[in-house]
Amino acid sequence: MNTSSFFLLLLSLVLSISEAFEASCPPAKCGHGGFVIKFPFRLKTHQPLQCGDGDQGFDLFCRNNSTVIHFPSYGDLVVESISYDTMKLNLLDPKNCVHEVFLNLNLSLTPFHYYFVLKNYTYFNCSVSLGPSVAEIPCLSGSQHHVYTVESPVRVPDSCRIIKTVAIPFAYSSYLSDSSFGLGLTWELPEPVDSSFHSKAGWSHLAQKKVLMIGGIVLLAAAAVLMSVKILRAKIVDSHGEKENQFTEELIAAQHKSPMHQSC
Ligand SMILES: *[C@@H]1O[C@H](CO)[C@@H](O)[C@H](O)[C@H]1NC(C)=O
Ligand SMILES: *[C@@H]1O[C@H](CO)[C@@H](O)[C@H](O)[C@H]1NC(C)=O
Ligand SMILES: *[C@@H]1O[C@H](CO)[C@@H](O)[C@H](O)[C@H]1NC(C)=O
Ligand SMILES: *[C@@H]1O[C@H](CO)[C@@H](O)[C@H](O)[C@H]1NC(C)=O
Ligand SMILES: *[C@@H]1O[C@H](CO)[C@@H](O)[C@H](O)[C@H]1NC(C)=O
Repeated sequence: MNTSSFFLLLLSLVLSISEAFEASCPPAKCGHGGFVIKFPFRLKTHQPLQCGDGDQGFDLFCRNNSTVIHFPSYGDLVVESISYDTMKLNLLDPKNCVHEVFLNLNLSLTPFHYYFVLKNYTYFNCSVSLGPSVAEIPCLSGSQHHVYTVESPVRVPDSCRIIKTVAIPFAYSSYLSDSSFGLGLTWELPEPVDSSFHSKAGWSHLAQKKVLMIGGIVLLAAAAVLMSVKILRAKIVDSHGEKENQFTEELIAAQHKSPMHQSC
């Protein structure tokens, strides 16, 4: 084995070790048309805990070939796409009722908040229709009750009962009754220095990268040392095998004992 092939062997060793690290967090998807799921999100059934900030609510699931996120305050929402650059999560309500999501979704114990500017709106439930002047939310209303949302503060008629006031991005509009309109969230990653208690998963992700880098540097340094020993040895062989330096002699002896160098 000559010097350059020995160096190539070491280089490929470094590369395969880094590949092994990558393989422990393989990119994951739900279905064929799905988007790539990566840090801070993780596909709970396919990727180990350190691939995402799982403790913090970034776990995703596959259901029916679509990507799903679970919110304890509401239930499951379909993740339509994730933009990692702009940190935007586009969601879709499988029940097709965005205002039911707005009414119930409580993001206070999650890493998420609405992507859009919020205003306080009051939801109220009336036994009598208020007529065409206020748009009724069809998916929350029935034949005997009519649900509306109006920007706070609002005085509601006697036939109505206030459900609650929540900070949401959009009021209901029949023109925007799309099942995804307004369901955009953004996220915050915990600060690793200030709150190390909360961000174990984030740390181990960073630690993995550091170990990988340091390992690569150590192996390359070892390769450089072995290469220079080889060059030194070749020089000594050139000078008719004169053995003047005791240290170099010992190094050569050690190399001859090593089975890796028998082919030399
Ligand atoms: C899966 O998709 C089918 C057809 O699109 C639908 O009928 C079914 O309700 C879905 N199941 C779930 C659990 O979402
Ligand atoms: C998911 O997609 C694959 C390929 O498009 C299809 O064969 C399979 O039936 C789908 N599964 C569901 C639950 O819809
Ligand atoms: C959301 O949840 C937090 C903590 O559980 C609670 O204090 C808060 O009142 C809730 N907000 C709404 C709008 O229900
Ligand atoms: C909504 O109302 C609450 C309570 O009055 C207030 O603390 C909060 O700042 C308001 N939010 C917005 C977006 O106006
Ligand atoms: C509105 O009131 C009706 C009748 O009391 C009730 O059945 C319904 O669940 C209420 N809707 C909401 C969203 O609170």
